[in-house]
Order: sequence, then C-alpha cells, then structure tokens
Amino acid sequence: MLPSTAQLRQTGGRELKRIVFDEETIAERVRELGREITDAYPDGDLLVLGLLKGSFIFLSDLVRRIERPLQVDFLVASSYGEGTVSSGNVRLVYDPETELEGKHILLVEDIIDTGKTLNKLVGLLRERRPRSLEICALLHKHVAKHLELEAKFLGFDAPTLFLVGYGLDHAENFRHLPYIASLT
Ligand code: IMP
Ligand code: MG
Repeated sequence: MLPSTAQLRQTGGRELKRIVFDEETIAERVRELGREITDAYPDGDLLVLGLLKGSFIFLSDLVRRIERPLQVDFLVASSYGEGTVSSGNVRLVYDPETELEGKHILLVEDIIDTGKTLNKLVGLLRERRPRSLEICALLHKHVAKHLELEAKFLGFDAPTLFLVGYGLDHAENFRHLPYIASLT
C-alpha cells in the first residue's frame, strides 16, 4: 500500500507514483543473490562492504542470506546532494577501518546510475590490494557509459526513473519504505 497523502506531506512535496518492485519480489531476489554469493566464494576471508547510506536495508537483508563466514564494514561516499541528477562529485566521507588487503571484497551498492560513484571507489579499493573485488548492486539503470567493473551480482535491471524506498532516498526521504517506488 502506498502511504497516504497525509503521510507524504512531510516528504518535501514529492509523491510516489507507483511501486516498481514490491516487498515479496525483492525478498525472493535477495534470497537468490545470497545463494549466488554463497556459491561464488569457496574459501578465504570475505568482507562485505556496504556503501552507505543507500545500501543499508539491502545489505542487512542480503548478509542474512549468505551462508558462509563473512565480515561487514561500510563506506560512505556522497555524490548527489539534494538533487535527482548525479553531480559526479564523489567524496569519501567515511573510510572502512577493516584491513582490506588479501580479502575478498564484495562492494554492495543500492543502484548504479551514471557509474561515477563506483568508478571512483573501485580505483580507491584496488589500491588496498584485496584478494578480489566484486560488486553486488540491487539495481542497475544500464545508462553508464563506462564502468571500471561491472556488477557480478545484480538484483534487478531498473527503469531510468528516479526510484526511492528500500534504502534509496530523495533528499533523505523515503528510505524506510519496504518496497521500491518511482517518484512523480
Ligand atoms: P551514480 O554515481 O550516478 O552511479 O549514482 C549512484 C548513487 O546515486 C547511488 O548509490 C544512489 O545513492 C544515487 N542514485 C542514483 N540513482 C538513484 C535513484 O533513482 N534513486 C535514488 N538514488 C539514486
Ligand atoms: Mg542517495
């Protein structure tokens, strides 16, 4: 159920248009991704690195579906400000404290749009000499002109709409929605 108009009055005047991925669809795909990741990493230390804030719900659901030992850490990059268009101005606001060298790093991202955020981070993370580096993205708009590294694990192909919910925000609103919806 979409929130009522009254609830949406507090969300910067933006309203949800329609649900693009519902709770059940997301849960089923996350379960499958967990299986794929479990099967893909036979040995070695696995560090699941969540890109905040957008991946926080996806990551917490995903790691509970991965049936092998792993560690979790986060990084914070900032690129969008309050708009809906990628500025390309990617800043690392929080750097993971966990040692990355020699570990399998799985970078978990909410959505790949222009790819600028990931391209910057992939370069930074490779300098730390991980044993491997792969990307797991919940959504991919397939509009990026160049990606340093394609997502090995992908939830869904996304429409080229601005999406919110399940961690994704517009000006910090809508992150808590259990489904993914488009904005008007
Ligand atoms: P990129 O650098 O253009 O690939 O943008 C990646 C980041 O922008 C994501 O991690 C999101 O935080 C944000 N982003 C891109 N598209 C959307 C969207 O449709 N809704 C919400 N956030 C988005
Ligand atoms: Mg965002």
